[in-house]
Amino acid sequence: MNKIIAIANQKGGVGKTTTAVNLAASLAATNRKILLIDLDPQGNASTAAGIAKNNSNTLYNHYFEGVDLNKCIYKSKDQYDVIPGGEELIALEVAIRNDNNQGFLLKSINESNLQFDYTIIDTPPTLNQLTIEGLFSASGTLIPLQCEYYSLEGVTSLMQTIQTISNKNMSSNRVIGIIRTMVDMRNNLAKDVSDELEKHFSSLVFNTLIPRNVKLAEAPSHGMSGIKYKPDSYGAKAYLSLAGELIRKIEYA
Ligand SMILES: Nc1ncnc2c1ncn2[C@@H]1O[C@H](COP(=O)(O)OP(=O)(O)OP(=O)(O)O)[C@@H](O)[C@H]1O
Ligand SMILES: [Mg+2]
Repeated sequence: MNKIIAIANQKGGVGKTTTAVNLAASLAATNRKILLIDLDPQGNASTAAGIAKNNSNTLYNHYFEGVDLNKCIYKSKDQYDVIPGGEELIALEVAIRNDNNQGFLLKSINESNLQFDYTIIDTPPTLNQLTIEGLFSASGTLIPLQCEYYSLEGVTSLMQTIQTISNKNMSSNRVIGIIRTMVDMRNNLAKDVSDELEKHFSSLVFNTLIPRNVKLAEAPSHGMSGIKYKPDSYGAKAYLSLAGELIRKIEYA
């Protein structure tokens, strides 16, 4: 069964896309079939997947032109597949709201008979309709978080949003876990926030820490994940271990 996981945090630059791409690559490395959906007009995940943006179909073409969702799926340079995103998703965001078409993405996924074990959805750094579509489609959400002073406030409001959607019986989404990204434990504040996080959200915090590692930041410019670019780097190993932890949480729970 296709497990749909949204990667969300309305705070910008916390490692959502890096997590989406490297988790997709890590899960694919376990021979699971993985689809990555780029729901961000910035299109960063598409770049990191090595997709040429100009002439590929996105959810825009699916929504406005009726292009089959399966025809919006491309091979990445890694082993996972991608539905790319880009600037045209801004128009899609407006249209879904104007057309009162909330839930369109989940409906499309369900109607398209996709053959994947996991679908990972990268969302933009806002709680706009695109992010809501991602949260609505997903059965679980992963929240990447940088251990900084303001980080915890954002997480609480994101959790409330997910809860609100669930309470209205609109989706079965739940928070699977919080992932600490760009970790540098030499930084005292980061250590304090990390401790706070474990205290407040204990069972939700992934044990795996994603370290700050320049190889993860370099990989997108080569159109690939850190897993493919430098498999022996600390960053790649951390994401592989995160994928293992996720699989244990989801498949053996
Ligand atoms: N573990 C890491 N080590 C080093 N650099 C990282 C790491 N994770 C992310 N980065 C870098 O930090 C920046 C922000 O990361 P990323 O794009 O993944 O965040 P994001 O939450 O998707 O951002 P946005 O909110 O704009 O979508 C990028 O330049 C990325 O390469
Ligand atoms: Mg991003």
